[in-house]
Amino acid sequence: MNVLHVIANPRPAETSTSKKLAFEFFAALTEKNPDVVVNNIDLYQAKPPYVSAEALNYFWGPVANPSYIPTKAEETAANFSNNNAQTLMDADVLVLTMPVWLNSMPAILKAWLDQLLVPGKMFTFGAEGIVPTHHLRTVVLLVSSDQVYKEGDVRDGLTPAIRAIFAYIGVEDIQIAWADGQDASRHFDSNERREMAIEAAKEIAEDIAGLA
Ligand SMILES: Cc1cc2nc3c(=O)[nH]c(=O)nc-3n(C[C@H](O)[C@H](O)[C@H](O)COP(=O)(O)O)c2cc1C
Repeated sequence: MNVLHVIANPRPAETSTSKKLAFEFFAALTEKNPDVVVNNIDLYQAKPPYVSAEALNYFWGPVANPSYIPTKAEETAANFSNNNAQTLMDADVLVLTMPVWLNSMPAILKAWLDQLLVPGKMFTFGAEGIVPTHHLRTVVLLVSSDQVYKEGDVRDGLTPAIRAIFAYIGVEDIQIAWADGQDASRHFDSNERREMAIEAAKEIAEDIAGLA
């Protein structure tokens, strides 16, 4: 089983709750299933560019016109996508480690998704619409936030976006371990909340370890 771990958090591991969740998640996963192959991508070490007009032509040109031939500039604009899509296409499980920023995902993660969830990579178009061309079965969110709210709350703009984005390419199984209330100066129970999220992350890892 291939697990792709994408880290969308610039903070060092020592001070990051979401990275603590990730540490515990992968410790539990690899203990239960030592055969799992884990690829780590730190987006702050290899930043995805924003999608340009040339990249859009490269991705969507063939959809509108099957005999489309990209220009040199369009090909260059698609370099990030061309160089990075295969790792995601090969993954069975995608783990996204991130803080909540402005009620949603950090922009760097959205930029990465914009580059890779494009026609010709994660899907193509058939007569009936989207045809997935990946193996992804599950997306795991390891999330940390300061305020006390999580998925299901009206302030949560993160999980509805992730669910909609992955449903588009046929992935409905979204697992979430979310440590909220992490501002210890305002929430006396921030440690307990973190521990609960760590337990949730370990449970998800154990379930995933058992996947064929
Ligand atoms: C730019 C920015 C925006 C943030 N927006 C929110 C937010 O909308 N809701 C929230 O609960 N916390 C918000 N926070 C707080 C972080 O989510 C919180 O500190 C989180 O624990 C950081 O994760 P980490 O410890 O893994 O780095 C924000 C922090 C930053 C820096």
